[in-house]
Amino acid sequence: MGFLRKVLALILGLSVLVSAAVAEEPILIRFSHVVGENTPKGVGANLFKRLVEERLAGRVAVEVYPASQKFSDDEVLNALLFGDVEMAAPSLAKFNRWAKALQVFDLPFLFEDVDHIHRFQQSDVGRRLLSSMTSRGIQGLAFWDNGPRVISSTKKLNTPGDADGLVFRIEPSDVFQEQYARIGAVGVAMPFSRLTDAIRDGVVNGQENTWSNIYSRKIHKLHRHFTEIGHSHLGYMVITGADFWRGLPRDIRASLEEILAEVTAEVNGLAAEKNEEARNKAMAEGGEGVVVFAPIDDQLQAWRDAWMPVWSRFEPDIGSDVIDAAVNAARRQ
Ligand code: LMR
Repeated sequence: MGFLRKVLALILGLSVLVSAAVAEEPILIRFSHVVGENTPKGVGANLFKRLVEERLAGRVAVEVYPASQKFSDDEVLNALLFGDVEMAAPSLAKFNRWAKALQVFDLPFLFEDVDHIHRFQQSDVGRRLLSSMTSRGIQGLAFWDNGPRVISSTKKLNTPGDADGLVFRIEPSDVFQEQYARIGAVGVAMPFSRLTDAIRDGVVNGQENTWSNIYSRKIHKLHRHFTEIGHSHLGYMVITGADFWRGLPRDIRASLEEILAEVTAEVNGLAAEKNEEARNKAMAEGGEGVVVFAPIDDQLQAWRDAWMPVWSRFEPDIGSDVIDAAVNAARRQ
């Protein structure tokens, strides 16, 4: 080979190497969420990043943006559609405007416990809900747990009537709005990032959330009364842009699905423990200042009587087949 041909071959070889390196730029997954890192979702997002970067090193990179650093839950679905972020995990109460059937998770006193929720999520109807927003460009990938919603307020709530005239911060769920209206209170939807200030500034007198969220936002320092009635469970749907997901190389998508299944098992295994730990810490730090009240018998029945009628109002939107499947999942197969 003449000198010139050797140089040309070298240049060609180098340019192939350079373009291969450019082509192998890792795929970036930006995972945006609104809670602290020491909560079930925060732990899950960070674990997802670690496992992806271990197993798909150089092929996929993950950036996690916790605590509403990038987007609120109101903004994040459109951000997924615009390609400004690739993954998120809003609570199931945030999909009100996107898929009415998902409101089944908001219905008060429907799920007896977390096993009941899991049986429903794993049923055919439950799994189909992951695709309930696909036609609108959002693909559900997994359900993650947080825990039971606890009501906190400036006033002790022995009975539903005690909430009369109070203002509660709620997640943007029509079901929750209706619930609070039924007990003479006002439910005001606002982003999670505004919750602590809204309590501090007296814009709201109450709110409902899990212990892990309550502790991480220091609500136990602001509210004295916590009412545990087991009416509702805060869980998440991990979501991505449907086009982004479909466009991934098949082997990468399969690996991500495998990793997500592992992370889901981990999150759902630690969620109850994280909430118990946060509850204990809130009580220890709050001392006499934190009073937890768990109504039973007639008092609990009064909450059920006040709130369960909302089911029939939302049944046409959610679909009776979906509600029936959720109710039937209470029975062990
Ligand atoms: C809330 O807005 O209160 C929760 O949905 C926040 C979260 O993501 O747990």
